[in-house]
Amino acid sequence: MKKIFFTLICLLLFKTIFAVEGMWIPTFLKKFNIEEMQKMGFKLTAEDIYDVNHASMKDAIVLFGSGCTGEVISDDGLLITNHHCGFGQIQKHSTLAHDYLTDGFWAKNRSEELVNPGLSVQFLVKMEEVTLEVMKGAKEDLKDEDLKKLIASNIEVIKKSYAGKTNYLVDVKPLFYGNQYFAYVYEVFKDVRLVGAPPVSIGKFGGDTDNWVWPRHTGDFSLFRIYAGKDNKPAPYSPDNQPYHPKKFFPINLKGIREGDFTMVFGFPGTTQEYIPSQAVRLLIEKSNPNKVDARTIKLGIMEKQMAADAKVRIQYASKYAGVSNAWKKWQGETKGLIRLHAIEKKEQQELEFSKWVSQSTPREKKYGAILENFKKNYAELSDIQIAYDLYNETILRGSDVFGLIARFDQLAQSVNDTVKFNRQKKVITEILPPYFKDYDGPTDQLILPALLKLYLERVDPKYLPEKLNSGKADLKNGTWIQTAYKKSIFSDSLKIKSLLSDFNTKRIKKLQKDELYSLYTTISDYYNKNIDPAYQRLSQEILKTQKAYMAAILEMKQDQRLMADANLTLRVTYGKIEGFEPMDGVYYQYYTTLKGMIDKQDPNITDYVVPEKLKQLYQAKDYGIYKNSTGELPIAFCASNHTTGGNSGSPVINANGELIGVNFDRCWEGTMSDVLFDPERCRNISLDIRYALFIIDKYAGAGYLLKEMNLIR
Ligand code: ARG
Ligand code: GLU
Repeated sequence: MKKIFFTLICLLLFKTIFAVEGMWIPTFLKKFNIEEMQKMGFKLTAEDIYDVNHASMKDAIVLFGSGCTGEVISDDGLLITNHHCGFGQIQKHSTLAHDYLTDGFWAKNRSEELVNPGLSVQFLVKMEEVTLEVMKGAKEDLKDEDLKKLIASNIEVIKKSYAGKTNYLVDVKPLFYGNQYFAYVYEVFKDVRLVGAPPVSIGKFGGDTDNWVWPRHTGDFSLFRIYAGKDNKPAPYSPDNQPYHPKKFFPINLKGIREGDFTMVFGFPGTTQEYIPSQAVRLLIEKSNPNKVDARTIKLGIMEKQMAADAKVRIQYASKYAGVSNAWKKWQGETKGLIRLHAIEKKEQQELEFSKWVSQSTPREKKYGAILENFKKNYAELSDIQIAYDLYNETILRGSDVFGLIARFDQLAQSVNDTVKFNRQKKVITEILPPYFKDYDGPTDQLILPALLKLYLERVDPKYLPEKLNSGKADLKNGTWIQTAYKKSIFSDSLKIKSLLSDFNTKRIKKLQKDELYSLYTTISDYYNKNIDPAYQRLSQEILKTQKAYMAAILEMKQDQRLMADANLTLRVTYGKIEGFEPMDGVYYQYYTTLKGMIDKQDPNITDYVVPEKLKQLYQAKDYGIYKNSTGELPIAFCASNHTTGGNSGSPVINANGELIGVNFDRCWEGTMSDVLFDPERCRNISLDIRYALFIIDKYAGAGYLLKEMNLIR
């Protein structure tokens, strides 16, 4: 009995110690984190993670494209990231004849690796705090506009000084809402080739149904290779380029994982909002999330039907669908999680404590006394136009394909008197037209546009709509008018569009204005840009300014505490433990899944749950080789309590010895509110077990030759 009691206490203690909220800055680990990390089991030092003078983990990690992470796993620049991060590339190489989405792709040798124009990876060379340099010359009484200008010009100076004579890319970014600044120096490689990808039935198993959900059986990985010039430096694509030799690559651990093991995730988290006030949370829960979700529900419903009816449309819209549905599902989980955590009330409580702290001294009163009032006033105003803003974005700007294209031509028309701008814009359109029409299906888009417009007209307050729209509401809501206009429009015809672009001039613009679809778009967008956007921007600026002051006050109030800077798509370390969780009363989720679970889930009638034949055979034969776990099963995924967010996809999941044990690809749905409020009980990141990736490469795809260049720890 005593023993059981002791174990219980330990379990309870464990629970609270395990999860550590925060995405930490690599150069500050020594000061804030390393001791705690080592207490949790980490065996290495802060310098092993980040060091400018010696090879360290950071030298094996890249920002992949514009919003994912990847890590190098061989001395020949082999890189692993998620399948969903490489999805756009895999899809671009896919046609009905070579359907790499459905069949997977494996380069049998280096000459078969596929080139990806536009894709780049960035290694962080170094990062340094530059707050003093950015604020140089800033006096207390400077006007907002002047301060902005001063900061911008200081940043330019800093960028130049860091770049020197190198080709490095330098970025200066604010942290804590501009209470701190960092310079980031990157080396950018633009020749990145596709090496391998499993079929979607593995790489996207569970599809959008299981997306954001634990337990999970998705083999969410793809392989790329970084190429460099003969000097091992970045070079534009050339057949003569050679595989890049990194300063460091990750060894891969095949010994497996156990609950309670230390893990860290090192990658590029995109955005979090841990310090927003109660009003912002309320806006998110009550207006922003629900309206955006509704718009996307409509769009997804149409896409789904069209994709199911036509294999060509299925390929064309696969990437678009995944993109739209991802945030759609996350917003729903986030809303639920915030409500469950009583996030609004918690924030209000914090604000109460804050105002108590402020009222304790007159200087504080003077400096910070207006903050909460300002929030209240500005959010009240913002709240009024939030729906107009969100729905404009969801339904007009990013709703239908055709309005997206028209928007481009509208910009072109507006720059007709500025040759430089005009030529730049024309070049952009010329480049996007082929991929646009490759993935465009007229009948689908002709259904999406009127359905979204209808929602826009129903939800947006008439005072935020152009008069013309208000008076023609019945026609527009009915939809037939739009469909007819769409069919007649020049924008539904790729040949006409090409010819329009080739001799675009003032005369053509006049004619264009008679195109009903074009004129509908410009009526809405002109009105929006004149009447809504300025108000929205003004309020956002006001709020940002208040948020900066609020942040400064919090930093002062909690100066003896360790505070996390919100994610800003720069390299961060987050750590926790491998652990399951209780998603709801009475249910406990294990920390790992297996191939058996995938087989149990299979359903030949549901696309998301089709298991490829060969995988079934491997399962029957239990042919798991060196990839099985201690109970003889094949592991697929695991969950852990690392505080991650979008952008961490593809990030290395690292064990106590600095070896790769997994690739991060998701968070559990019950924990998606962690971008605003972290709950150690329920927030879990989801990772692919690296053994499953190797199993697929080796046993399933027969691409075992790739393993030869890796460093496997058995
Ligand atoms: N939820 C993950 C992320 O935010 C995965 C998204 C891609 N997967 C999908 N089924 N759409 O990126
Ligand atoms: N799938 C996400 C990504 O692409 C990671 C999941 C999350 O938001 O934590 O970055």
